[in-house]
Amino acid sequence: MEIISSLYPFILDWLDLVVRWIHIIVGIAWIGTSFYFNWLDSRLDREVNNEKIDGELWSVHSGGFYHINKLKGPPTKFPKELHWFKWEAYSTWISGFALLIIVYYLNAETMMIDKQINEINIFTAIIISITFLIGSWLIYDYLCKSSLINNKILFSILCFSLATIASYSLTKIFGSRAAYIHVGACIGTIMAANVFYVIIPSQKNMVNAALANKEPDLKKGLAAKTRSIHNNYLTLPVLFIMISSHFPFTYGHKYNWLILAIISIIGASVRHYFNLRNQKKYNVWILPTAAFGMICLMLYVSLPKINTNIDQDNLELISFNEVNNIIQYRCGVCHAQKPTFEGFEDAPKGVVFATAQDILNNLSSIKAQSIDSDIMPPGNITGMTEAERNKLKIWIESGASINN
Ligand code: HEC
Repeated sequence: MEIISSLYPFILDWLDLVVRWIHIIVGIAWIGTSFYFNWLDSRLDREVNNEKIDGELWSVHSGGFYHINKLKGPPTKFPKELHWFKWEAYSTWISGFALLIIVYYLNAETMMIDKQINEINIFTAIIISITFLIGSWLIYDYLCKSSLINNKILFSILCFSLATIASYSLTKIFGSRAAYIHVGACIGTIMAANVFYVIIPSQKNMVNAALANKEPDLKKGLAAKTRSIHNNYLTLPVLFIMISSHFPFTYGHKYNWLILAIISIIGASVRHYFNLRNQKKYNVWILPTAAFGMICLMLYVSLPKINTNIDQDNLELISFNEVNNIIQYRCGVCHAQKPTFEGFEDAPKGVVFATAQDILNNLSSIKAQSIDSDIMPPGNITGMTEAERNKLKIWIESGASINN
């Protein structure tokens, strides 16, 4: 028993590794097929001299020529095997939810809750998390079934505003990283539920109607098309959120929800450019505008961090000894070869601050995690003060000397 309980943190790490690996693989398969069919449909040669064929496409890939036909109606004779694409979506959602449990729910105290933002307990945090996942799907689905769906622009503006309100609220409930991941998890849930509740049922209806020699339900087909377009636009923001944990200057920023909203608009507009291009509409201006948006965002986030006028003479001299004490006291309980903080068996992410050299090697990430943002210590669990962050900042800005 004891062995199992001491193995627990390692098991959790390995589960994290395996499930994350699976999540990325099935996610690539899902988005890959979705991108492929989107592309395929837009590139079909529609001028085929065959009344049964809507379009055809020739391609060459991995040692062979492929000749694909899209039929106008159902096939006259059903093939022995008809391939569906649904498990890519379901397994992405299932592995994603498992990751949410492994990384966030089981480490809620460090990974979800930030006592400076909100003093909630673990149970409440998990309930809020699940409510957001289900709630965002219910609201989105309700809007899709309302007449608002006929007004594309109004629908998009409303959904985008609701998503921004949700992400703003999440940043006021959870720690910043958990807030970002939850926005991604809500969008991912909407996308997978679109497949499960709308797209696949519509395809089943189409197949059953064909088998029974009846007309398929046109309304179902239209709804499925709309949802699949929504999924297509949502891929870019959701992929950004998946990689956002590498970029603390985004989720750790004071206005992290706003940054997410702007990056999402930029991502969706790039997707829009490619969708228009597939329809042979070349709105090239979208790309430089998106790039310009990214540059403005970079300037907005980064300019205030540049210290243009550090007055070297007026700098209070901070000794390395003082800095080392702060780091050992506030960070060293976790970031050590043998962490003393309960629940940690290894240094998180392999980041150790045992020696002066360790600290120097990690200067830029210490700055990113604890000065430019307050992501570390997680939820400020070791109670690092502003004065201490400031001391670290001055020490780094004045050259990070370890000799005084
Ligand atoms: C309660 C334990 C704990 C304390 C205290 C703590 N950290 Fe961390 N740290 C973590 C965890 C957990 C992670 C991994 C987070 C993740 O999965 O991205 C981490 C990751 C990091 C990383 C790597 C980030 C990355 O994504 O590569 C750095 C750098 C870091 N911490 C710096 C610090 C600094 C500096 C302090 C003190 C000011 C500190 N940490 C205090 C738990 C802690």
